Formats: sequence, structure tokens, C-alpha cells
Amino acid sequence: MQRREGIAETRSTIARLRSATDTADKRPAIGLVPTMGNLHEGHLKLVAACLKQCQHAVVSIYVNPLQFGPNEDFGSYPRTLDADLEKLQDAGASLVFIPQDAELYPEGRDNQTRIHVPGISDILCGASRPGHFDGVATIVLKLFNIVQPDRAFFGRKDFQQLQVLRTMARQLNLPIELVGVPTQRADDGLALSSRNQYLTPAERERAPALYATLQALGERLQAGERDFQGLVSKGRQLLEQAGMRPDYVEIRNPETLQPPAEADQAFVLLCAAYLGKARLIDNLVVGTPETS
Ligand code: PAF
Repeated sequence: MQRREGIAETRSTIARLRSATDTADKRPAIGLVPTMGNLHEGHLKLVAACLKQCQHAVVSIYVNPLQFGPNEDFGSYPRTLDADLEKLQDAGASLVFIPQDAELYPEGRDNQTRIHVPGISDILCGASRPGHFDGVATIVLKLFNIVQPDRAFFGRKDFQQLQVLRTMARQLNLPIELVGVPTQRADDGLALSSRNQYLTPAERERAPALYATLQALGERLQAGERDFQGLVSKGRQLLEQAGMRPDYVEIRNPETLQPPAEADQAFVLLCAAYLGKARLIDNLVVGTPETS
């Protein structure tokens, strides 16, 4: 334990002792914000939440090859390290960790032990991107082991990712609290994402239809409609009308991400759709406050 400046003085009166201990920082020591860089306002909100809750905010920047499929955008994923470092400096991050492949995967990617969280990793985005969540869980567990944070912060835009990681943390008894931070949106509702950069100006104008579709379905669920299949078909139709190619539109239980049971009162609407070169995802929780 580090000796605090002026500690001798606090011995003089009880009041002084109390005020000194009151001001002692009781927040968890280390918070981790794992990122793949190309930071936007959504990432900076994660850093702000981390700094509010923890004494130190460690931000990792690593475009993790393990979580990209062979035909995905690993090569073209935007890398903007200098701008990221400037943003993190302004945001007050305590430390930036930029690991290198050779240190993370010294025995090569093919020989790397991988984490597979069964069930929840294989549905929705996991069905369209086989192995994606194994790559995510593996790198996040490695970062947890390296940084040893008390808390880790993730955006709720990647709802399934957060639930996969929570399941991993629970099943492996990790002593780390995972915090979900609300999705940051542009004024027109589009969830902020590095992949929005792949949109042409015309596509960018159409992209808010994704969240608008979720909101339209959400209102009907909120009003008591329970024809899930009908709502999903409507959602796909709305996305197609907006010029998107829906990958999936689903209504699920927010904890398990399984189809909702009759008695469920809370739902998460999840969708993924292709628009030009971009695959966009978004979600909306209906029925209870968002899972934290
Ligand atoms: O959400 C992301 O940016 C990535 O999946 C993460 C959590 C940093 C792991 O590479």
C-alpha cells in the first residue's frame, strides 16, 4: 500500500482522520476498455464510464485477427493509431495497451488455445460469422489475464458479444465485473460503429432505417403484440424497403438470447443487415431497463 501524502497530519484529530479516509478512493483500481481502435464517441463513452467507476482506465487497441472470418474485413479494418492516441489522451485514459501479434499469439494463430462459449456463440451473428465469438472470447480472456482488471467495459451495441463474454466470465468464475455501456447514436439514430465508414453517402442516408425498424417493432411489442413471427417478417420487409439485405431480424430473451417463452416480459430485438459493403448490427431492449 502506498503511503499517502500528508498521512502524519491525519493522526491529529478524529475528524481529520475521518475526512482523510473519506476521501480515500474506494473505486475499483483497474478498469479495462478493450477496443480495436478507430475510436469514435462510443468508445470515448466507455472510457468515461471506466474513469467514473475505476481509478485507472486501461484501453487496449488491437485488431484481433482471430475474430475475423477468411472473407471478412481484417485487412481493410480502419487503423488510425495516431488519432486514437490523441483522443485517449484528451479523454484522460491512464494507459494504452497496444499488444503485438507475436506476443499475443507466439505459437501462431492455428496453435492458439481458443475459448468457445457453447450455444450462445453459435446463433445470430455467430451463425453468420462462424468462429467469430471464439476469437472475441479468446482475445478478451487473454486481455483479462494480462491486464487483470476489476471491471471491463463494453458497448451494448454489440449485445450478443456482451452476453457471450458475461457467460464466459460466469462459467469460468472470473473475478471481473463486466459493464455494458449504452449505445451511442448519431442524431438520426444510427448506432456509431467503425464500419459505418464503409457506407457511401447515399447508403449512410438509408442506414438509420435499421434502428427505425427496431423502434417500430419495439412499439408493437410494448403495446402487447406477441405474434413474434409476424413482427420479424415485418422487420425484414422494412429493411428491404430501405434497400438493405437483412441477415437476421430476431426477437429473443435478453439474457439467454433464445426465442422468448410465453411468460417472458422482457425482450431484445436484434438485427443485422448488409448495406453496400457494410454489415450493420443493432438492438433494442423492450420491457425492462437495459441489462447493465
Ligand atoms: O468490440 C470490439 O471492438 C472487439 O470485439 C473487442 C471486444 C475489442 C475484442 O477484440
